[in-house]
Amino acid sequence: MDGNGRWAKKRLLPRKAGHKQGVEAMRRVVDWCDAHAIECVTFYAFSTENWQRPQEEIDALFELIDKFADREMQNYVSRGFRIRILGDLTQLPPHTREVLAKIIEQARTNTGLCVNIAINYGARQEIVQAVNRILRSGLREIDAQMLSDCLYTGGQPDPDVIVRTGGEKRLSNFLLWQSAYSELVYLDTYWPDMDDAAMERIVADYSSRDRRYGKIKRGE
Ligand code: IPE
Ligand code: MG
Repeated sequence: MDGNGRWAKKRLLPRKAGHKQGVEAMRRVVDWCDAHAIECVTFYAFSTENWQRPQEEIDALFELIDKFADREMQNYVSRGFRIRILGDLTQLPPHTREVLAKIIEQARTNTGLCVNIAINYGARQEIVQAVNRILRSGLREIDAQMLSDCLYTGGQPDPDVIVRTGGEKRLSNFLLWQSAYSELVYLDTYWPDMDDAAMERIVADYSSRDRRYGKIKRGE
C-alpha cells in the first residue's frame, strides 16, 4: 500500500492524512474483493523496515492500526471474514497486540474472505522464523511444502497476483517465497486513490497474462 505520503504531500497535507485516506482505500478494496469472491487478500501495512521512520509517524501508524482493528476489523468479523496477521507481533505496542488478539479470537471460526494484514512483516524474517521453528522440532532435512507450511501464510494458496501502488517497481521484502509464480502488477496510482476502477484494471491486466509456470504451451 504505497504512496500515502506522496498523496498527502500533493495536497499540502501532513503524511498522517495520507495514511488516514489509505485506510479508506483499504476498505474499498476489501469490499471489492468480497463482492468479487476473491479467496484471499493480503495488505502490507507495516514492514520490519518501517521502524526506521520518525517516531511520530510510527505512532500515527499504530494509532490508525488500533482504530482499524477496533472498527473495521470488527465489521470483518461480523461479515464472516477470516483474519490473519502476518508478522512478528511480539514487537508491537501492547495495546495493538491486545486488540489484534481479540479480533483474531472472534474470527477464529469464520470461513469467508481471508484477509491477511502484514504488520511488522518482512519476508526474510518470515523465512528465518520458519526455519527456526523447523529446527526446534528436531528435523534435519525439509522439503518446500514444510517450509511453506511454517510461513505466516501457512495453509493458504500462493498469491496469483501482487500489486504495488505508488510507482515503485520492487517487492520490498514482501512474500518473497510465496511470490515465486505470482503475476506482478505495478501501478502509478497512489494507494489512497485505489478504487473499483483500479481493481478492474488489475483484473484486466492479470487476465491478459499467460501463466506457464516454466512450461510451454501445448502444441508449441
Ligand atoms: C504507505 O505509504 C506505506 C506505509 C503505510 C508504511 P508511504 O508512507 O510509503 O508513502 P510514500 O511512499 O511516502 O508516498
Ligand atoms: Mg513508500
